[in-house]
Amino acid sequence: MAEPSTASRPAAAAAAARAGATAVAHPNIALIKYWGKSDERLFLPRTDSLSMTLDVFPTTTRVTVDAGAAQDTVVFDGRLAGGERLRRITAFLDLVRRQAGRAERAVVVTRNAGPTGAGLASSASGFAALALAAAGAYGLAPDARALSRLARRGSGSASRSVFGGFALWHAGADADSFAEPVPVAGSLEPALVVAVVDAGPKALSSREAMRRTVATSPLYEPWARSSGQDLVEIRAALGRGDLAAAGEIAERNALGMHATMLAARPAVRYFRPASLTVLDRVAALRQGGVGAWATMDAGPNVKVLCHRADSAVVAAALREAAPGAAVHVAGPGPGARLLDGAGR
Ligand code: DP6
Repeated sequence: MAEPSTASRPAAAAAAARAGATAVAHPNIALIKYWGKSDERLFLPRTDSLSMTLDVFPTTTRVTVDAGAAQDTVVFDGRLAGGERLRRITAFLDLVRRQAGRAERAVVVTRNAGPTGAGLASSASGFAALALAAAGAYGLAPDARALSRLARRGSGSASRSVFGGFALWHAGADADSFAEPVPVAGSLEPALVVAVVDAGPKALSSREAMRRTVATSPLYEPWARSSGQDLVEIRAALGRGDLAAAGEIAERNALGMHATMLAARPAVRYFRPASLTVLDRVAALRQGGVGAWATMDAGPNVKVLCHRADSAVVAAALREAAPGAAVHVAGPGPGARLLDGAGR
């Protein structure tokens, strides 16, 4: 490649100094949960997990390098961020800057289409979008695995939102702890019906809750062991297009995870009365012959796996059971993508 002329060098440097990229990523919901870390700093999970990326509630994030700035600026849903949120994003940008051999600060403008911090995986879509946008802005070009590893360092579950459809995150050590797509039968037409029974931020972060569970719950180790078997079985079920088997496995894996929390000291309890009402209704749907299986994360909201053809029936049943809940129907969504190239 020809050396840039001396006249164009400052222009190139100036362009790099204000380079930016915009990325969009969708949340994912785990059918086999990530719950517990073996390394807090590197975000290494104790167990493998498996999720479906959704086609609702995307996060859109723009990162612009700002050579003149003394610190990073984060605008989150239209407001200037500070405190823990700013600290986490700055720490993540520091990681990207180290990888890129760069030092300039950045402006991050991010917007969530769904509720933030309410168990709807906004940190997964958030850090997947941030990883891709920041990598672009700082001139890195990670492949999908490297991007998944990078997103993991912001929030573990973000490693899976790099991919569309179903994704498996290998617990691994640092270099081999990434997610990858999981093939499923073409006949599988799943939907996730999300019942938001409480859209407010959760009282205890998933990070703190999983830390306490691993440290104090006598049920944690048995759950972690059985989760490995759940993963083997659900992969086989998804591969043969058996949604009923996959749903049963997902429901027991999630309820088992909540059992580990209930046994933590002090207990971590995310269930609200409306969560139980929805779980009852899901069981009633099954008794009435409609395939529906529930999963819950670190929050009170309930996500119900069902056949796409049954999703309207399931959504109507959940709206009737929990009139205060907002009910959304999601299908399998796309992986993270850049909306524009780096450098623009
Ligand atoms: C219950 O990925 O939010 O949703 O890695 O500490 O940021 P950190 O935790 P996070 O935990 C998600 C936990 C979960 C289960 C899952 O998504 O697998």
